[in-house]
Amino acid sequence: MINDISVIPAWNGRGEKTIKVKVATEKGVFSAYAPSGKSKGKWETAVLPADQVIKNFPDIKKQLIGLDEGDWEKFDSHIEQVCGRNFERCGANFSAALSMAVIRAASGNRVYKLLGGGAAFPYPIGNVAGGGAHMGSTAIQEFLVIPVKAKTITEAIETNFAVWQEAGRVLSRSRHIGRNDEGAWISGTDDVQTLDVVTAAAEAHGARVGLDVAASQLFSKNKYQWASLKKEFNTTEQFEFLKMMIEKYKLVYVEDPFNENDYAAFAELKKSTKCIICGDDLYASQALRIGQGAQHGATNAAVIKMDQAGTVSRAMRAIDACENAQMAHVVSHRSGETCDSFIADFAVGTGAKFIKCGIAGGERTAKLNRLLEIWSETESPAMAGSKF
Ligand code: PGA
Ligand code: ZN
Repeated sequence: MINDISVIPAWNGRGEKTIKVKVATEKGVFSAYAPSGKSKGKWETAVLPADQVIKNFPDIKKQLIGLDEGDWEKFDSHIEQVCGRNFERCGANFSAALSMAVIRAASGNRVYKLLGGGAAFPYPIGNVAGGGAHMGSTAIQEFLVIPVKAKTITEAIETNFAVWQEAGRVLSRSRHIGRNDEGAWISGTDDVQTLDVVTAAAEAHGARVGLDVAASQLFSKNKYQWASLKKEFNTTEQFEFLKMMIEKYKLVYVEDPFNENDYAAFAELKKSTKCIICGDDLYASQALRIGQGAQHGATNAAVIKMDQAGTVSRAMRAIDACENAQMAHVVSHRSGETCDSFIADFAVGTGAKFIKCGIAGGERTAKLNRLLEIWSETESPAMAGSKF
């Protein structure tokens, strides 16, 4: 039984205040931290500032304790009743952290087992260099590496680190080298120069490259603003430019290539390439939107973020919608993270093909190290089958 719940302040790696939710049962205390995004989609469930969550909590605490943590799905429905269908009364950051803490309590901190995870492990998609809303000079938010040839999670992590280090060596010739919110390199280079560097580093290590364009962030006055290239694209020009990039750099993954309303443009790009086209801001981890996207044939993958979904069960429903639409699901961190490694369990437990959890920085390696730990506890582990 859930005997007590508490909420305390905490900080994420970007220096923002967030929350930690602690759930006490007969078996001990189980907890989770809320992640936070910066390049937020318009369809995302609303979060509340940490101080507001802490202030509101005493009023709802009584309604949340005394239930059985074992039936975590029922508890998630109860969260919806207390917080509102869109978690508007408590914030989706609070509901997500509470839901994650409760399923940890239900599983004795082995969430991946409780979710029935098989032996297939997700490929970690690592953020090598970046810009956009996460700081940096490029319009593209994330230049990503995918260790497509890795046979083990160790090889996958080694490859991602090697590519990140190699790209860092080249980019450090610039006087402006630094790291952004997700530990990805930032330098004075523009989008094309950065993609040249990341692709060369990936090729040297048998890996492939992907992008998170996060195009909603570039969309203003009906045009995509590529400041570092001093260009402004309409939708057709954006399509042509990205298609050229996919072909020239043999990209295997492109996330949010267009604005978050433009199912048709997503569908057009998907039709024209074998590259995985993924929706993040487009869907905001909402089952309903994933279903709509499927009707348009918009993407073949969708990002799932715990705080966009609002509870673990809601995230599961979004994954069900992906499965119905034959989309791969990509479990993802946020740019504002703590060392909470929940998404590693969740990705393995739900059979995700990919996990976006970054490469460098303690809050990123926490997830990678948890993947290694789960790998070591798994009988006959293997990487998820890929069709690269
Ligand atoms: P965010 O970025 O956490 O700042 O939203 C991550 C992403 O867009 O994938
Ligand atoms: Zn994204």
